[in-house]
Amino acid sequence: MLILGFESSCDETGVALVDAGGTAPPRLLAHALHSQVQMHEAYGGVVPELASRDHVRRVLPLTRQVLTEAERTLAEVDLVAFTRGPGLAGALLVGSAAASALALALNRPVVGVHHLEGHLLSPFLSTDPPEFPFVALLVSGGHTQLMRVDGVGRYELLGETIDDAAGEAFDKSAKLLGLGYPGGPALARLAEFGDAQAFKLPRPLLHSGDLDFSFSGLKTAVRVQLGKLGSNVCEQGRADLAASTQAAIVDVLVAKSMAALKASGLRRLVVAGGVGANLRLRALLDEKCARRGVRVHYPELALCTDNGAMIALAAAMRVQAGLARPQAAGAFDVLPR
Ligand code: KG4
Ligand code: ZN
Repeated sequence: MLILGFESSCDETGVALVDAGGTAPPRLLAHALHSQVQMHEAYGGVVPELASRDHVRRVLPLTRQVLTEAERTLAEVDLVAFTRGPGLAGALLVGSAAASALALALNRPVVGVHHLEGHLLSPFLSTDPPEFPFVALLVSGGHTQLMRVDGVGRYELLGETIDDAAGEAFDKSAKLLGLGYPGGPALARLAEFGDAQAFKLPRPLLHSGDLDFSFSGLKTAVRVQLGKLGSNVCEQGRADLAASTQAAIVDVLVAKSMAALKASGLRRLVVAGGVGANLRLRALLDEKCARRGVRVHYPELALCTDNGAMIALAAAMRVQAGLARPQAAGAFDVLPR
């Protein structure tokens, strides 16, 4: 089954063609991505109206690119998938409208996908796919959740952030450090040159005994430290603060993931979402999991952040599990929240 997937929930237009739904493991045939980072950079964050307009400009050229790369034609597509939400309403509507229009023209069904389910299932496209059941650490710009996953659609929330998401903690701290948007990768790059022990930053809820997270206090602690350093903080000071911030976020994510594995008795961990691209997080999880005999699975680095492949795959897996009935194109709907 060939699935054409569209992702347009925020600031990346993603289109992909995935071969999935049969007995063979799912295969990514081609994917294309356009990031709007440069366009939003000047504003320090995503401007929803600009995001929607750019998705409109990019979605069809990217679709052509994907089909050319995969050496397939539109007529061969069996199913069209799009991100139904959560995300920016106007941005979501672009992917939804493109998917519905193509499905209508091709007389093929469409499936709307929950963005987080796309992230969650994305490691199934990797060369080392997980098996159910597993614990999932879902860390994106908008969400931080620990889940027990027993199968497609069988998700039990074990804990989540009570305020900011991990990605938000990265982004907001990076902004304070003058690193612009999006801050996660920039902060991680600066942290490579810093000493993670240089500043004592809080590890919120580390010993709370539950599996919830809180990151809003960390951003305040970073602001206080920067205030103490003064306006002419040296480059090494900024790198040390970046490294200390990254360590504080990662330590909590790792400790709670380990606690979730222990509480559930499971020996498999899946990490998904943009923050899952963080190399310190990966290194620390690899080390702890190896010591405890836990297998840890990540999506391919390129599929950690938003992309169309995860949406196509999630649609196929849901259809195969009997959880999503492909709809005739027409009523294209989105669920921004
Ligand atoms: O999953 P994603 O692409 O979009 C959402 O669904 O939110 O996640 C984006 C988040 C941003 O907060 C970004 O700063 C963060 O993932 N991120 C990283 C890294 N790459 C992306 N955070 C830390 N280290 C990274 N290498
Ligand atoms: Zn995402």
